[in-house]
Formats: sequence, C-alpha cells, structure tokens
Amino acid sequence: MPKAMPKSDTPFMSDSDVVDRVLEHVAAGTTDRGTQTWHEPVQNYQSETRLAQELALFKSLPTAFCPSIALAKAGDYIARTAAGTPLIIVRGYDGKVRAFKNACRHRGAELAAGKGCAGAFVCPYHGWSYGLDGALLGIPHEDGFPDIDKLANGLVEVAAIETKGLVFVCQSESGLDLQDSFDEANRDEDSLDFLNGIPNVLAPDQIIFDENEIIVEANWKLHLESFLEGYHIKATHKETFFPFGYDNLNVIEFNGPHARVTFPFQRITQLADVAPEDREVSDKLTYLNHMFPNVILAELSHHRTLGILEPLGTKRTRITTFHMTKSEAVADRDAAIATAARDLDFVNGTGQAEDIAMVNGIQRGLNSGANDAFTFGQFEPAIVHFHQQLAERLQTREDIQE
Ligand code: FES
Ligand SMILES: [Fe+2]
Repeated sequence: MPKAMPKSDTPFMSDSDVVDRVLEHVAAGTTDRGTQTWHEPVQNYQSETRLAQELALFKSLPTAFCPSIALAKAGDYIARTAAGTPLIIVRGYDGKVRAFKNACRHRGAELAAGKGCAGAFVCPYHGWSYGLDGALLGIPHEDGFPDIDKLANGLVEVAAIETKGLVFVCQSESGLDLQDSFDEANRDEDSLDFLNGIPNVLAPDQIIFDENEIIVEANWKLHLESFLEGYHIKATHKETFFPFGYDNLNVIEFNGPHARVTFPFQRITQLADVAPEDREVSDKLTYLNHMFPNVILAELSHHRTLGILEPLGTKRTRITTFHMTKSEAVADRDAAIATAARDLDFVNGTGQAEDIAMVNGIQRGLNSGANDAFTFGQFEPAIVHFHQQLAERLQTREDIQE
C-alpha cells in the first residue's frame, strides 16, 4: 500500500472548511471578496527608485531560495542572485545549509555558477579555494601574501534558514542572528513571525522532476498579480482552465503579509456528501500560496510548484521554477513522476502561456499614458493585500526612502 500523503500543515483553514466555503459560493453564485478598491500608481511599476526600495525590502526579509531537496546531500550547491546579490547556497558536511556572497576574497571573481555538487569552491581566476563552510583553505603561492589573515578572509556569509521544506535567505544585518536563533535546539518559532505565516506543505521526500528558469520582459509585480485572483479565469482562460473550474470563485485567506488563494475545480461538488474527515481535496482544487513578497508555492493535483520572481530591472523578471512530485513516499517512483509531469503539462501547455501573454501586453502598454493607476476591485483582495503590505513596509523603512 502506498503511504498516505502527509496532510498539509498550513496556518490557513482546514481542507474541509475550504470545501464548505467553496460549496456555499457555488450554491449562491458568490466568491470571497474584499471591502476596498485599491489604486496602484503605474509609476510604481516603472520607477527605478521604487524598484531599489523593493529590492532593499527583499533583502531585509527571509525569502525562499529553493526547496530543501534541491540541496539533498553535502556539497550540493546553487549559485544565483537573490534581490540582486550573487549568492552560493550549499549544504555542508555537517548537514547545514549556508549562504555566501558569490565573490572571491582575493579580487572578487565569481566562484560558482548554476548548480552542482562540489567538495570545495576553487576560484577560477587564481585558484584560491574555500570549504563548504566558507573557510579560506588555500592560496596558490601563498608566500606572495605575507600579511594575509586567512581566518578573516573566508567567504562572506549571509543567513540561510532551512524550514518547512524550503531554504530561505535573509540578507539583513540581523539575518545572521535570526539564523542563530533558528539553529538553537529549542528554537522559539513563535519569534519568527514572518516565517510562521508560511505553509508547511513540502515533504522531505519529494522529487524535483523539472526545474527551469525563464526571463520575461515585464515588471515582477505584474507577474505576481496574475497568480493572485480568479476574476480573470473566464476571460483569459476560456478554453483552458475555465471548462474545469469556475469564473471568479475563490477562497482567499491571509496570514500576516502572506496569502492563500484557492481555485476550485467543478468536480469539488463531488465532496458535498463526503464526511469532512474523508474529504480528499488534492484533485478538487489548487492552493496558490503567496509567500510575501516574491514567491509562490502552488499545490496542484499531482505536483507542487515553487516559483521565485527575481526582478532584473523595472521591466525584466527572472522566474526560477521547481516542479516537485507530491511525495516520493509512493509505491512507484516512476509512476509518481509521470503523473506529476502530466499534471504539469496541463498547466504549462495551456493556462500559463495565456497569463504570460497577458502580462507582457500590460508591460507594453505601461508607457502609453492610458492609466495613471491600476484599479484592483473587491474580487482582487489578495492583490490589494499585497500592495498594502508592500506600501506599508516600504514606508516604515526610512533607510530605503529616497
Ligand atoms: S579572484 Fe579569486 S583567486 Fe583571484
Ligand atoms: Fe491565469
């Protein structure tokens, strides 16, 4: 018998309560809705200053960098920018994940690119070498550096926090304190408010069956917004998602700055007569978790997708995506991957391209002067919440004001 799937552990409503709320909406022809309209100035998608402030905010927060299982064994590393900073994230021989600035302490060369598995990082320029813990190990012709303090010239560390099946990085000055408090045996997770709002839905035994990186020519917030409402399902996805789902029917929940948007399939009505404890929702709805500010984690029928939006400019975004099976804890690993891949094909082959086309069109029209501001109404409350949180957090950070 396959092992039962672990139940999602989230700060949001139970699956059964979500089903009840969806069924009420189906019967009444309603949806969760907000109470206010939000006007977001178009300038906020175009301004270099605003982007610099947003990136400073990214650096101050723990932001998801990759799934834990992307760094399964000692030496596994990923080199990529986060909020513009080139980083290497690597699992050490002690099992701990660490993050370092990807810059040699000699003359700053990049030490690694992409991903791989290494026993040490050897600089490609002159060969200085560093351990997985960042320590400077070797300097070719070391007698040419008679004054160097090797202990003081290890790689520059930033905080890496592994929790909830994810590795987060935090580039603020207090980030390393946060990392230390998290390392303690009796860590007080309550003190880590920000991370507490993030759902725990990734099992340690999941398989990454696909990962990719694309660059899109649009502001990162335009992409994010495309995930956060179901008001566009009928108009944008008429032949793709709409025949299986609903137009403008979502359950929308918040936890701190984070949010979860539920997109039900029509077959969810099959659960009306199923006892709450027996309701299996995995192929009846999609949970779209927004981890503030720039990460989404989608729980789909047969797979999980982590998507990280990295702004590369006001009109350029890199989207790094990890697609995972739900769990490896099934009888047939190959079958689990095949099922997950079919699931992914459905999403990628259809709806995603429609969303990206829509977002790219918005970006092309931004400079037209047609709009001074975009209007988000009562059916787009997760976007309103996001902009509110972003505006509040930028305002309270004097260090990143103009
Ligand atoms: S820059 Fe790395 S060894 Fe010189
Ligand atoms: Fe969409």
